[in-house]
Amino acid sequence: MSFERENIRKMSGYASGEQPEDESTLKLNTNENPYPPSPQVSKVLATFKAESLRRYPPATAARFRGLAAELHHVSPNNVIATRGGDELLRLAITTFVDPGECIGVTQPTYSLYPVLAQIQNCPIVEVPLLDNWALPENFAQQMNQSKVKLTLLVNPHAPTGTLLDYDRISLLASDLDSILLLDEAYIDFVEGPYPTTELINEHGNIIILRTLSKGYSLAGLRFGYGIAAEPLIDPMMSKTRDSYNLDHLSQLIAEAAILDQEHAKKTWLRVIDERRRLQNALLGLGLTSPPSQANFLLVSVPASCGLSAADIYQKLKEKHILVRHFGGPGLDDKLRISIGTIEENNHLLSTLEQILA
Ligand SMILES: Cc1ncc(COP(=O)(O)O)c(C=O)c1O
Repeated sequence: MSFERENIRKMSGYASGEQPEDESTLKLNTNENPYPPSPQVSKVLATFKAESLRRYPPATAARFRGLAAELHHVSPNNVIATRGGDELLRLAITTFVDPGECIGVTQPTYSLYPVLAQIQNCPIVEVPLLDNWALPENFAQQMNQSKVKLTLLVNPHAPTGTLLDYDRISLLASDLDSILLLDEAYIDFVEGPYPTTELINEHGNIIILRTLSKGYSLAGLRFGYGIAAEPLIDPMMSKTRDSYNLDHLSQLIAEAAILDQEHAKKTWLRVIDERRRLQNALLGLGLTSPPSQANFLLVSVPASCGLSAADIYQKLKEKHILVRHFGGPGLDDKLRISIGTIEENNHLLSTLEQILA
């Protein structure tokens, strides 16, 4: 006999990227920032007093929210701090979507979305991207016709790295009957200004997801935040969030990291430079990828290679290099490769050259 709810019993859960135990494996499979976090983070760790853990942490992460609000020119009431971007996704679903109501996504998309929908027992409405990974013109109409309550859109898109036009997002928000959750986990790696946070002043149905996991090199910390108009932030903040969702040490580290914009930006620029170089070098090996504005490339393995994407994934793994092979519709012949440091990318390239020779 099972005590699980029917929908939980039927689902298989989220498959995280592989986490090798040995330090020598080159990890290019989970889009972590290849550079260390701000030195201010080490300072916080060195001076943190264990005694302060006796007390509960600041309940609403007010200091962090104040800093994020300043950075994005919004009010602290427009910001919620969460345990990774993932907690914001879960909060948005449990706060705004009843079990049985539809959640809309593109196909492909972040593989956690369908899992969160299954937990809430919500059908998923999937709209396939076009061959060039663009959003179909009638995307909003398809969502509205299916009575979608929450549309989840990654931008820059995962796993392709493609970026939506700012005006297109604004139009989409106007056309949609649902909430539009813009998942900007990779926004820090976009070249040039891209001020989407302004959209929350024009559109009462947009929630923007941000994370410190990628742009601030803090995937191990589990810290993210949401930005939206107050009527969207308030119920998550005051009703559905765990009362102390962020521990004291995490809050101090996140504050130090977001304050050190200069350090973070340096890592973004290095990733952007390496993205360009890696993409060209891969092209030289016959491996194409769409223009990416994220810290990864979605690389196609042509049939002329003589090896499938799954073969290359396996051969790289044997040589202690991890990349991601999702498989499934449109992704069978593709590998998602995170951008590493110059040395890491050189190692990847020379290994790929051997494999393909
Ligand atoms: C598209 C996308 N959104 C959100 C997240 C959540 O990141 P985190 O929970 O680490 O903040 C990730 C993590 O890989 C992601 O790829």
